[in-house]
Amino acid sequence: MDDMRNKNENNKNTINSDDTAASESQIAVHWKEEAFISPSVKFIAQANMADPNIRERFKVENFPECFREYADMLTWDKYWHTTLDTNNPPFWRWFTGGKLNASYNCVDRHLAKYKNKAALIFVPEPEEESHIVITYQELYARVNEFSALLQDFAELKTGDRITFHLPMVPELPVSMLASARLGIIHSEVYGGFSGQACGDRIADSGSRVLVTIDGYYRSGNLIDHKVNADIAVERAKNLGQPVDKVLVWRRHPGKYVSKSSMVKGRDFFIDEVIKDFLGKRIEPLPLPAEAPLFIMYTSGTTGKPKGAQHSIGGYLSYVAGTSKYVQDIHPEDVYWCMADIGWITGHSYIVYGPLVLAATSVMYEGIPTYPDAGRAWRIAERLNVNIFHTAPTSIRMLRKTGPDEPKKYSYYFKHMTTVGEPIEPDVWKWYYEIVGKKEAVIVDTWWQTENGGFLCSTIPALDLMKPGSAGPGLPGIYPVIYDENGGEVKAGSGKAGNICIRNPWPGIMQTIWGDPERFVNTYYSKYNKNKASKDWRDWPYFAGDGAMEASDGYYRILGRIDDVINVAGHRLGTKELESACLTVLEVAEAAAVPVMDETKGRAPAVYITLKPGFEGKEQEVTQKVISTIEKEIGKIARPKYVYVVPDMPKTRSGKIMRRVLSAIPNKLDIGDITTLANPEVVEKIKLLVQEEG
Ligand code: PRX
Repeated sequence: MDDMRNKNENNKNTINSDDTAASESQIAVHWKEEAFISPSVKFIAQANMADPNIRERFKVENFPECFREYADMLTWDKYWHTTLDTNNPPFWRWFTGGKLNASYNCVDRHLAKYKNKAALIFVPEPEEESHIVITYQELYARVNEFSALLQDFAELKTGDRITFHLPMVPELPVSMLASARLGIIHSEVYGGFSGQACGDRIADSGSRVLVTIDGYYRSGNLIDHKVNADIAVERAKNLGQPVDKVLVWRRHPGKYVSKSSMVKGRDFFIDEVIKDFLGKRIEPLPLPAEAPLFIMYTSGTTGKPKGAQHSIGGYLSYVAGTSKYVQDIHPEDVYWCMADIGWITGHSYIVYGPLVLAATSVMYEGIPTYPDAGRAWRIAERLNVNIFHTAPTSIRMLRKTGPDEPKKYSYYFKHMTTVGEPIEPDVWKWYYEIVGKKEAVIVDTWWQTENGGFLCSTIPALDLMKPGSAGPGLPGIYPVIYDENGGEVKAGSGKAGNICIRNPWPGIMQTIWGDPERFVNTYYSKYNKNKASKDWRDWPYFAGDGAMEASDGYYRILGRIDDVINVAGHRLGTKELESACLTVLEVAEAAAVPVMDETKGRAPAVYITLKPGFEGKEQEVTQKVISTIEKEIGKIARPKYVYVVPDMPKTRSGKIMRRVLSAIPNKLDIGDITTLANPEVVEKIKLLVQEEG
């Protein structure tokens, strides 16, 4: 293995994909293989998991019983009788027969020992506003009171869905845990998504209650958020889902900061209604392990977002195990994950994982560079954060805006995480040397909304770090890379393929909410050879990412192989972008492709053609396209470029060749275009793209 550490591999990406596709994986940068770096002795000495025997315990012969080790980290009302029920593949059921409550596990059970310890520390974006410390006792009180309100005022019960459209405020984890207490299935929509996008998700989940907030701070501005609720309710109604109550938290209780008026009989200020519930206690319901805990929407290859449904028992066990062993969280730690709770990272590794382990979880409202590039490090210093978790896009931004800032602050991180997109070795090294001060271990965790928790990563005290590589499969996760025909791509072959997981694991989503067929087709059909088989070995999970395995067993993730663009670590479907463009009257055709971006990793570029007879200004249509995308999806989807082209390059059967459209701005080889119906248009597009810079 030693020889391999410094060896440069000839990383040739050999993913076959259909001619019209333009995937991130095809524009992947092929970094050279980096040398290993060891974790510090100091880190190893205190780590939760420094016993190499763990690999033995979780090897395939011990599957699935090995996962008892994670489930035993929880408190069960009733112990399970079957660790993994495979009767209805691929709808795996974990810990069946068991009963538990997620809210109890994250709050009540810690009271005896930790009631006065900080559970959450909320850091408002305005620096002059004080931090809000919520102890486990205070969290217990708030969760109970809001739970009582949901039960008696909103009349919600076990199995009902509730949608949250909340930014990074402590009311969000309170709302999640209050719902979990009663088995109400929560669906949090990222606060930066538009009202329209929220309305689509309300309708899909069938929620009749929306929880929102009047406003929040971002980049120094107080954003009016309640206005989105009005749009969301209207959109959901048009899609056939009435919302009868909108519950509104206030950023400054008692003071309303939104321009939107409160609709009588529909909209209620929570700080007023909750007065009737102060001091109320709600018994946490013992719920079946396989009952759903939440739905998290994510982009897929068709326009409609997919609701990834996660279970209580399997999900919570998996986040407990990975938070303990990979994040190395101890109750004494101050843990700060800079993600947004509106994404799966925040659900698993700001709320459920850290709280189930009785840690102190820091939540920050705003952007890490507000008001200046030192903000993140001031927070770390002030709160004595020792575990730090963020995404490459933030690391790139922090490096760009203040490469030497971390040196000015005396914080000490023992552990750091990167997640959400491939990290360039160069960026990794800045993170390690400057942010981590050469002392913090780094874990590069690869996983997805669908997975509940990490799949590939190093175990920080046991494995060496390799910049740019996620690492091996975690305990109990057996990854494999297949080519398009189902042949195994061997480790060290220097070839890329489709990364799959051979086996089920407790954190895997249960289904796509309301669409089990799409669940099977998206994740399992590709490599399942026998639909009748009840053996899990016949059902590899297809992740949709291109990857390579080095001969040391470390995986390097290259990016999406499908029609999904991972922008700053967040997934957007190209179809979602394209359908938004097509709502602009003047647009005839639209194609969205990923382009490389210095800060965000990838960004969308949009090509449009205009309807015949168009006589207006192209610039105006371009602006319309941008604002429509922002309105339909959110600012996060704002395209980096909008190119107005005379025609799209097409196959003879009329398919738009996105591969060509992606190659041009990424300055890649456009490949063979002789089979196109209109090859001459490619030159014109090239010139146009060059002009736009
Ligand atoms: O392409 C992979 C990329 O992010 C996708 C999943 O996005 P999402 O469901 O939003 O979840 C993000 C956070 C878990 C994956 O299909 N991705 C995630 N982590 C990594 C990554 N790419 C490279 N390295 C990672 N560590």
